[in-house]
Amino acid sequence: MKAVSKRALNLVITAGPTREYIDPVRYLSNESSGKMGFAIAAAAVARGHKVTLIAGPVHLETPAGVERIDVVSAREMLAALKEAFLPADGLIMAAAVADYRPARRLAGKWKKKSGPRDTRISLDLVENPDLLATVGRRKGPRRIMGFALETSDGRRRALEKMLRKNADCIALNGASALNADRTSVTLLARDGREQLFANQTKAQVAKVLVRVMEELCVSPIGEA
Ligand code: CTP
Repeated sequence: MKAVSKRALNLVITAGPTREYIDPVRYLSNESSGKMGFAIAAAAVARGHKVTLIAGPVHLETPAGVERIDVVSAREMLAALKEAFLPADGLIMAAAVADYRPARRLAGKWKKKSGPRDTRISLDLVENPDLLATVGRRKGPRRIMGFALETSDGRRRALEKMLRKNADCIALNGASALNADRTSVTLLARDGREQLFANQTKAQVAKVLVRVMEELCVSPIGEA
């Protein structure tokens, strides 16, 4: 067991979905409630750390002592993340970032086309930046915990994501975690360590993840 630093860390945590607008009243998003990221923020503050919580659109109270930055789209989240990550010791990337956004955001409402009942319409999408990979490329001595939401072949895909995005470890969970109070998480680390937290509250999992981040932030680069 490595000694855990008593030093207060500067941690950035992202949470919730992003929302990608099609027109003034419609958007693409996902089922993320933000509960996991908010639970991590609360657990980190309880351990004495400085926390910047970058949150997509969610209906959750800000945990006491947390500095919260609200964003809507993936690109807004990236801008806030780049700034907050600069002076940070570590990042926990729990947000469910939309991979695609509409190629154009219409200024007025997208009007229904009149035509035969089976008329098909399509929406052009473009890729959003990968936030984790973007900050991962230039992380220097900072530590990063990613999340992976997988519905099949989870372990292999999560490990591949961890390496591709240059994270130090990755928390793998399934779709049942979305919008739920309990979750099952497998934490995979670069040194091959694997820990399963089965059917626990998000608050319980959050405490463990914060401890893992503390360990990562005190271990020399290469040992993560
Ligand atoms: N992530 C990110 N930017 C994106 C997409 C994902 O930073 N545009 C981050 C998530 O916050 C998470 C990790 O990457 O920490 C993995 O997210 P996930 O949705 O599981 O994977 P994707 O990379 O989006 O791949 P796919 O949806 O194809 O599984």
